[in-house]
Amino acid sequence: MSLQQRSIFFLQLLALLISITSSIPNPNPEFPCQPPHLNSYPFCNTSLSITDRAQSLISLLTLEEKIHQLSNNASAIPRLGIPPYQWWSESLHGIASNGPGVSFDGRVKAATSFPQVLLTAASFNRTLWFKIGLAIGIEAKAMYNVGQAGLTFWAPNINIFRDPRWGRGQETPGEDPMVVSAYAVEFVKGFQGEPWRGSGNLRDRFGRKRALRGYNDEDDDRLMNSACCKHLIAYDLEKWMNFSRYSFDALVTRQDMEDSYEPPFRSCIQQGKASCLMCSYNAINGVPACARGDLLQKARNEWGFKGYITSDCDAVATIKEYQNYTRTDDDAVALVLKAGMDINCGTYLVRHTQTTIEEGKLQEKDIDRALLNLFSVQLRLGLFDGDPRKGQFGELGPQNVCTTEHKMLALEAARQGIVLLKNDNKFLPLNRNVVSSLAVIGPMANNISNMGGGYTGVPCEPMSFFKGLQGYVKEASFASGCSDVPCESDAGFNEAIRTAKKADFVIVVAGLDLSQETEDHDRVSLLLPGKQMDLLSSVAAASGKPIILVLTGGGPLDVSFAKGNPNIASILWVGYPGEAGGKALADVIFGDFNPGGRLPMTWYPESFTKVAMNDMHMRADPFRGFPGRTYRFYTGNRVYGFGQGLSYTNFTYKLLSAPRKLSLSRSFTGTSTNVGDMDGSHVVMLFSRAPKKIEGTPENQLIAFDRVHTSSYGSTETSILVNPCNHLSIVDQQGERILPLGEHVLTLGDLVHSVLIET
Ligand SMILES: *[C@@H]1O[C@H](CO)[C@@H](O)[C@H](O)[C@H]1NC(C)=O
Ligand SMILES: *[C@@H]1O[C@H](CO)[C@@H](O)[C@H](O)[C@H]1NC(C)=O
Ligand SMILES: *[C@@H]1O[C@H](CO)[C@@H](O)[C@H](O)[C@H]1NC(C)=O
Ligand SMILES: *[C@@H]1O[C@H](CO)[C@@H](O)[C@H](O)[C@H]1NC(C)=O
Ligand SMILES: *[C@@H]1O[C@H](CO)[C@@H](O)[C@H](O)[C@H]1NC(C)=O
Ligand SMILES: *[C@@H]1O[C@H](CO)[C@@H](O)[C@H](O)[C@H]1NC(C)=O
Ligand SMILES: *[C@@H]1O[C@H](CO)[C@@H](O)[C@H](O)[C@H]1NC(C)=O
Repeated sequence: MSLQQRSIFFLQLLALLISITSSIPNPNPEFPCQPPHLNSYPFCNTSLSITDRAQSLISLLTLEEKIHQLSNNASAIPRLGIPPYQWWSESLHGIASNGPGVSFDGRVKAATSFPQVLLTAASFNRTLWFKIGLAIGIEAKAMYNVGQAGLTFWAPNINIFRDPRWGRGQETPGEDPMVVSAYAVEFVKGFQGEPWRGSGNLRDRFGRKRALRGYNDEDDDRLMNSACCKHLIAYDLEKWMNFSRYSFDALVTRQDMEDSYEPPFRSCIQQGKASCLMCSYNAINGVPACARGDLLQKARNEWGFKGYITSDCDAVATIKEYQNYTRTDDDAVALVLKAGMDINCGTYLVRHTQTTIEEGKLQEKDIDRALLNLFSVQLRLGLFDGDPRKGQFGELGPQNVCTTEHKMLALEAARQGIVLLKNDNKFLPLNRNVVSSLAVIGPMANNISNMGGGYTGVPCEPMSFFKGLQGYVKEASFASGCSDVPCESDAGFNEAIRTAKKADFVIVVAGLDLSQETEDHDRVSLLLPGKQMDLLSSVAAASGKPIILVLTGGGPLDVSFAKGNPNIASILWVGYPGEAGGKALADVIFGDFNPGGRLPMTWYPESFTKVAMNDMHMRADPFRGFPGRTYRFYTGNRVYGFGQGLSYTNFTYKLLSAPRKLSLSRSFTGTSTNVGDMDGSHVVMLFSRAPKKIEGTPENQLIAFDRVHTSSYGSTETSILVNPCNHLSIVDQQGERILPLGEHVLTLGDLVHSVLIET
C-alpha cells in the first residue's frame, strides 16, 4: 500500500469504529438527547417549537421527577437519558469559581479576568462593555463544551450603588440608574450571543474569519448562554450594624422605585433580553422579594420577560427562617411558586414541595408553570440538541479561552477605566527616560490575589502593580509598609520610608480589598483602613518627594487629607483592575495611555456614615437632616463627584446646534477639542436639571454619555438625540413619569444651555 492508500485505509477503519461505538446505548449520557434518545422523544426533536418540546418533556415526568428539577442542582432523569444539570455558574467579570457549575480542573485551567465591573463602568464606553460581555460569553460556551461550566450564569449584578458602604457596590456599574441600565444591556447582549442572531462570524485564534454554526433565521429565541439580571430588587445592604440582607425589609417609595431601583431591571429585560431574573433575599415594603408576585408578573407582562426566575441562594428558606414571614416551610414554598418564582438555589424546594402539594397548598400545575420556563431556557440554549460540540457554537473550546484578543481586551478595559483624580502641576505622566529609580509601597502593590475583587476565577496571566511598573523602570523596589490591607501595625513603616528615600519617585498603593468590602460585609467607615493614612503621611513627609497615590477597591474613600496635601502630587483610582491591572497602571503612569475614566459614583466624606444605611430614601429630606443619595439627590459636600476624572490634556466644548425649544426629539451637536499635546479619549456627559415643579425633582441627571477619541489639538463632533419624554421627564410621588413645562437646564462641561418645554 502506498502511504496515501494506507492513510485512507486507517481513516475508513476509524470511521467504522466511531459508527460502532456511537450505536451502543449510552447509559450515562453527558448530554441529553444523544443516541439512542436523539429524536426518539418529541422534546429532542429540533423541528418542533421550544414550547411544544418543553411541554412534551413535562408531560413525561412524574411529580417526584418534577420536584427534583426545582433546585440549582437539578437531578438526572436516567430513564429519559437526561443527565443532571447545574444551573449555578458565575461570570460577573470573567468566568468565576464562585458557582458549583464552573471548574478550572480540566483542559481549561484559567479564564480571562476582566476588571471588576465598577472600574469597567468608569470607562463609560458601551462598545467596550459589549465586547467584554461577548468575550466572557465565548469563554463560557467554550468551557461548557468541555464540561467545565453550565450555560446559565448569574451575572450581571445591576442593583445601583446606593450607599458607599455597600460591600458589593464594586460588582455593579455604579450609582446612576441610566448608566447601570446601559451597562446591563450591552453586557447581556454580548454574553447571550446577540450578534449571532440570524448569522454570524467569529474569528478563530489565528484571526481567520470562520463561520460558526450559529442560529437559523427562525431561531430568534436561541441563546449562546443565559445571563441573569440580579438581584430583584432594592438589594444593596449586606450586613451593617444589626441589619442583615437575609432579613432586611427595604422600605422604598414609589417615586424611588420608579426612577432609581427599577430602571436597570427594566432595561436588562426589555432591551438586553436577558433570560433570567434573580429575586433577592430582602423584603420590599414588608414582602420578601421572591414572594412579590406583583413585581415578578410585571417583569413578564410589562417588560416582556421570557426566561426563568431563580431565587438567590436559600432565599426561600430565609422567608420562613429569618423573616418569619410564613409560619411553615410549606407556606413559603407555596408562596413563591404561586408568585412566579421558578427555581430555588438550594435544596429547600426539593425538600418541601411534596408535602406542600399533599396539603393542598400548591397544585401540580404551579410546578408545570415553573418547569415550562426552566425547560424553555434549556432548550433555547441547545441543551437538548445532543452533543453540543456538534451544535451551535460547538467549535468553541479551550483554544478560545485566554486568547491574546481577550487578554488585550482585559488590559484595554483597565486602562480605559482608571480615573485620574488629582494631578498637581501635571506631575504625571512620568517620563521613563528621566525616572531612574522607583519605590512602590503598600500591602497590595505586589499581591495578585485581590486584583479582580469579588467573583474572580483563575486569571490567565495576572500581573501585580509592582511587576507592571518594573516593566518601565528596572531599578524598582517594593516595601509593603503594612503587612496587609487592615494595616493594624506600623512595624513596616521604617522599611517603607527607607525604600522611599532611596528612590527618585514614590508610588503608594493604598485602599481596599475584600477584607474590607465583600459579600455579607459592608464597611462602617469611608476612611482608609487601619493605619494606611499614617503610612501615606509618614512616607510623604519623610521622603520629601511628591507622592503618587494609587487607590484600590470599589467603595468610595474619604481621602480629603490627600486631596489637600501638597506632598501628594497625583491620585489615581484603579478599582479592582483585573489580571492586566499591573500593566494598565504602569501604562497610565508612564503616559503610554492617557487616562479618561470617570467616577461612576459619588465619593462622600466620612460624615456620611451618620446616615443610616438601612434608610432606602434617595431624596434628601432637610427636615430630618437626611442629605440624599447619589449625585442626583445628595446635597452635602463631596470628596470627589460622580463623573469626575482628569486627563493628561484638557478638553473644551462648543455647541454647534442646540435647539432652544423642544417638543419632539431633536439633535444636539457639539464639538470637543483636545487642547493638549497628547491624544486621548474622554467622556462627553450631558446633564439636565428640570424645573423644580414637583417634590423630589433630581438636582441633576445624566441624560446621555459617549466616550470619544480626540487627537492632540484636534476636534471631535458628537451628536446627541434628545427626546423630551425619555430624557427630560421626571417621576412624581405617585410613581408617574411627567414632563415638567418650563426651562430645563442642560450642561456639558462648562457649557450651560437652557431648553424650553411648552405645552
Ligand atoms: C419531528 O417533528 C416533525 C414535525 O412534527 C415530524 O415531522 C418528525 O417526524 C419528527 N421526527 C421524529 C424523529 O419523530
Ligand atoms: C446534587 O443532587 C444529587 C442527586 O440528584 C446528589 O447526589 C448530589 O449530592 C447533589 N450535589 C450537591 C452538591 O448537592
Ligand atoms: C437595630 O438597632 C436599632 C438601634 O440600635 C433598633 O432601633 C432597631 O430596631 C434594630 N433593628 C432590628 C431589625 O433589630
Ligand atoms: C424571626 O424569628 C427568629 C427566631 O424566633 C428570631 O431570631 C428573628 O429575630 C426573627 N426575625 C425577625 C425579622 O423578626
Ligand atoms: C496577598 O493577599 C492575600 C489576601 O489578602 C493574603 O492572603 C496573602 O497572604 C497575600 N500575599 C502576600 C504575599 O502578601
Ligand atoms: C487644564 O486646564 C486647567 C485650567 O486652565 C489648568 O489648570 C490645567 O493645568 C490644564 N491641564 C492640562 C493637563 O493641561
Ligand atoms: C471604546 O472601547 C473600544 C473597545 O475596547 C475601543 O476600541 C474604543 O477605542 C473605545 N473608545 C474610546 C473613545 O476610547
